[in-house]
Amino acid sequence: MRRSLIAAVALTALIVPAGAAQAAPPDTLRSAANGAGIRIGTAVDMSALAEDEQYRTLVGAEFSTVTAENVMKWEALEPTRGVHNYEPADRLVQYARAHHQKLRGHVLVWHSQNPAWLTEGDFSPAELRQILREHITDTVTHFKGKVWHWDVVNEIFNDDGTWRDTIWYRTLGPGFVADAFRWAHRADPAAKLYLNDYNNEGLSPKSDAYYALVQQLKAAGVPVQGYGVQGHLATQYGVPQTTLENLRRFERLGLDTAFTEVDVRIPLPADSAEVQAQAQGFTTLLQACLLAQRCVSYTLWGFTDRYNWVPGVFEGEGEATPLTEDYERKPAYRSIRDTLRLAG
Ligand code: G3I
Repeated sequence: MRRSLIAAVALTALIVPAGAAQAAPPDTLRSAANGAGIRIGTAVDMSALAEDEQYRTLVGAEFSTVTAENVMKWEALEPTRGVHNYEPADRLVQYARAHHQKLRGHVLVWHSQNPAWLTEGDFSPAELRQILREHITDTVTHFKGKVWHWDVVNEIFNDDGTWRDTIWYRTLGPGFVADAFRWAHRADPAAKLYLNDYNNEGLSPKSDAYYALVQQLKAAGVPVQGYGVQGHLATQYGVPQTTLENLRRFERLGLDTAFTEVDVRIPLPADSAEVQAQAQGFTTLLQACLLAQRCVSYTLWGFTDRYNWVPGVFEGEGEATPLTEDYERKPAYRSIRDTLRLAG
């Protein structure tokens, strides 16, 4: 099975231009998504992309958009103050270009994976604002014209809808959000600028907080253009039922929407009911995207259990992606593909 999948993809890659929208290999998520009129994406682990040929082949064949899992985060881009390392991210830019893929830029402002010089520095509010401004301007300028969407601010609210206590909120107050969008837009007016979070799929205090924020930002003329729903689900918690309603209310405010980091983790060992529930989780979010008017992409946060963040964070849970460690297709893979085909 694994061999035949890889062989089919490799053979197709020889006879059609790699990754062209109209020439996606048959029987892939990518060809099904082309038919459905949305982009299908994955987070990319740059070590795996360099070292694992099967992984590399599948990223190109199966997906029409990619997101750097880690290498476009601040700690990766500027580990030492003033010393930038764009090389791994530039490799992803080149890969995406060669495979006719869009790139989602992740992430400009977050409370996590920031460099130590920043988090351990003793900066005044004015200094911190200037540092953030430079980071956004330098980063967006470096990738200008190459990034389709930027996740401008990530995970700024708690689940109860209050502001998360981060270095940004604590030091700069809520105005950092409008500033970040304005600075990003100035550096690359063509990139679509997104809010992004988890546990914001359905109607909830957290998504209400985003809704109120978008209304305020829009009223102030701030260039916010997208609402990103990460979509980290777990079979034991079920699937939010009001996702479509939530997407639609953001779309009515004039935003595009996107699923940006979908995965569905399972308590291990997984039984067949869990595996089916996982497939249902992936497709419920996908159906909401397909039924919404302006949901432009559906990105998986990794596509194979071979490289996945979940076991390192949630003890006893895992197998959160649509392909096994050996690149076997799970029911989740087939459900995503078939749901896309039905919409095509
Ligand atoms: O870079 C160091 C490396 O130098 C070191 O040798 C290695 C040893 O463990 O660690 C490396 O850092 C790791 C980093 O990924 C890069 O591989 C961190 O330990 C690890 O914690 C980090 O995890 C990432 C996590 O974000 C951090 O918050 C995951 O790979 C990544 O999938 C995850 O992605 C986030 C999204 O950005 C935002 N939404 C939630 C999502 C899942 O947590």
